Amino acid sequence: MNCFSYLCHCMIDRLTKDKIMEAAEIVDVVSDFVTLKKSGANFKGLCPFHDDRTPSFMVSPSKNYCKCFACGKGGNPVGFIMEHEQLSYPEALRYLARKYGIPVQERELTPEEKAAETERDSMFILNEWAMKWFQEQMYETPDGRAVGLAYFRQRGFRDDIVRKFQLGFCPKGKDTMTQAALKAGYREQFLLSTGLSVKRDDGTMYDRYWGRVMFPWHTVGGKVAGFGGRVLDAATKGVAVKYQNSPESCVYSKRKELYGLFQAKHAINKQDLVYMVEGYTDVLSMHQCGIENVVANSGTALTREQIRLLHRFTDNITLLYDGDDAGIHAAQRGTDMLLAEGMNVRILLLPDGDDPDSFARKHNVKEFRDYVMQHEVDFIRFKTELLMEKSKDDPRRLSELVNDIVLSIAVIPDEITRTFYITQAAQTLQMDEAMIQRAVSRQIVKLRDEEHKRRMTGGQRSEGVDIPENTGTEAVDTAMSGPASDPSDDVVTPNPKTAMSSPVAVPTSGVEMLLAQLIVRYGERKICEVEDDEGVSRQLSVAEYISISLTLDGIALRNANASLILDEAMKHVKEDDFVAERYFLGHENLGLSQLASRLCLDREQLSIYHGKDHTRDEDRLLEITTHILADLKLAIVRGDIKDIMKRMKDAALSKEQHMELLRRFKELKEAEARLAKDAGDRVL
Ligand code: CTP
Ligand code: MN
Repeated sequence: MNCFSYLCHCMIDRLTKDKIMEAAEIVDVVSDFVTLKKSGANFKGLCPFHDDRTPSFMVSPSKNYCKCFACGKGGNPVGFIMEHEQLSYPEALRYLARKYGIPVQERELTPEEKAAETERDSMFILNEWAMKWFQEQMYETPDGRAVGLAYFRQRGFRDDIVRKFQLGFCPKGKDTMTQAALKAGYREQFLLSTGLSVKRDDGTMYDRYWGRVMFPWHTVGGKVAGFGGRVLDAATKGVAVKYQNSPESCVYSKRKELYGLFQAKHAINKQDLVYMVEGYTDVLSMHQCGIENVVANSGTALTREQIRLLHRFTDNITLLYDGDDAGIHAAQRGTDMLLAEGMNVRILLLPDGDDPDSFARKHNVKEFRDYVMQHEVDFIRFKTELLMEKSKDDPRRLSELVNDIVLSIAVIPDEITRTFYITQAAQTLQMDEAMIQRAVSRQIVKLRDEEHKRRMTGGQRSEGVDIPENTGTEAVDTAMSGPASDPSDDVVTPNPKTAMSSPVAVPTSGVEMLLAQLIVRYGERKICEVEDDEGVSRQLSVAEYISISLTLDGIALRNANASLILDEAMKHVKEDDFVAERYFLGHENLGLSQLASRLCLDREQLSIYHGKDHTRDEDRLLEITTHILADLKLAIVRGDIKDIMKRMKDAALSKEQHMELLRRFKELKEAEARLAKDAGDRVL
């Protein structure tokens, strides 16, 4: 096997590659190297590829792309990493896989896997063809115009909206599409796997969607993953299935996809908000009203996959449902899951019996928009109003309501957000805030116990509810009790974006918390002098030294708290009067200030870096800093070595793969020796 085919086939299979591409967010990726500031819908920073004095480097989350307007360099996440880290394409992919904790199969694809890749490609290509063919039928055949297009027009959909969503029509002849596809050279196998055609027992095939108008489903990137076909005749309601959807396949899964996301993603990003509706026509109608940040989960219960997909674009979601029992139920069911994923949920119920589509038809654009603005409420008000209406003065109902709200608050991962809602609930319910706080804390403890038991018994966790790492009161307790507790616990809200980037299970957390402790206590102290490009010497603080050293080695802190502390310190360290300890202890983020107080109380921790003579930290800051950094790098390298050793045991490795691993192993061992020497003169 030559070198080139080794690169192509051995390492990263298409599915993994897709996963990496899906996970890698440009802002997150670039942020590891460039400090970004929000600038409208985009982010801006100093270009890492040339000597940039004014921010010329633009990062667009919706396009998942970055570019320097001065030097022209940039690209998608993989391209950026290739350029910045000077890596080859597969190396850049591996870098991102590591960052996002995606396991990479380091081996040659089996023939089946290669076939699966080709199968996916073929299915997307066929779907694309079918989407165009359905459009052609609708616009260019008499029947299509008289039946299909007429249907959309009669429902009040404007032609530009029908075009925008690439809607189409599948003719009444039972196998017109199937025959056209076969004639165009598409294989029966893919007609069946995409579900466009169905095979009868006698071996003949018919069109799954004959006589229906067609709604294509797009992937986030715009490929056609599947279809929904709506029966035209209202009279067949109850007889025929109203919407026929693509069957599950390797390109389409109803629980993972969101209808309209492709057309909505820019608007979602711009508005930093998404509206969730139930159906295809709701999405269309809202676009027609000029509200484009909308997706549908297509009549099913919202899934965790769908929420995570949306969360890439925004933290804010408004559920926009019919005010009937089904809509209320859907809103209730969705709320806790969204809260548990760290999203901010608002709910908007339309007057009973209206879905967004029918409501939009009865009102003009302004009325519709006004209604939306005026009627959305947070989940506490939603639950409260709902129950109050049903049971005005029934005390049992009231306690049920309080309980229900407490359960919802308890699943919110972010402590600050929890506190906010506790206050909100106390006001809405006119109850004592401390009492609600206690109830929430109890519930969190209970959830955590349950989760613990589930893990011990190897049981499946229940869908949807993640348990916050700590309760509000408990964080205070541990802060008071001082050094006994492990300061590496995630006390501060794990930002889902940074939490995601803690990839491999290398036990660096402890060392990272030592760095964090150093920053909190001495972040602003100057420890060495460097010369800048112009030969002017300047003093580096502890925080700057750490940040530069990590960046030079391409290391991102994996512990969310440590990373947050470093970021915060770097934001302010240039200010003249910045004193890290004072800043962190008084931080507005309660979790962060509590963590800081623990780190400050915990004076002993750093003392292992002092050696025999009992000097004070302050006198040996540079030494302590370099030691801890060396320890961290050592821990990372040792983790990598372990990983390689594990992989070398795999009997299925080809000779080339084994050699490659061995080469990497030697490199790492050399690095380990170097680092161990740096860290070594410490007397333990
Ligand atoms: N749905 C489905 N299959 C069905 C019924 C519904 O997939 N048999 C999904 C569709 O995505 C549909 C959504 O559930 O858009 C909501 O269903 P419903 O309210 O019944 O349909 P509407 O969207 O109102 O469609 P229409 O206005 O065309 O009747
Ligand atoms: Mn409808």
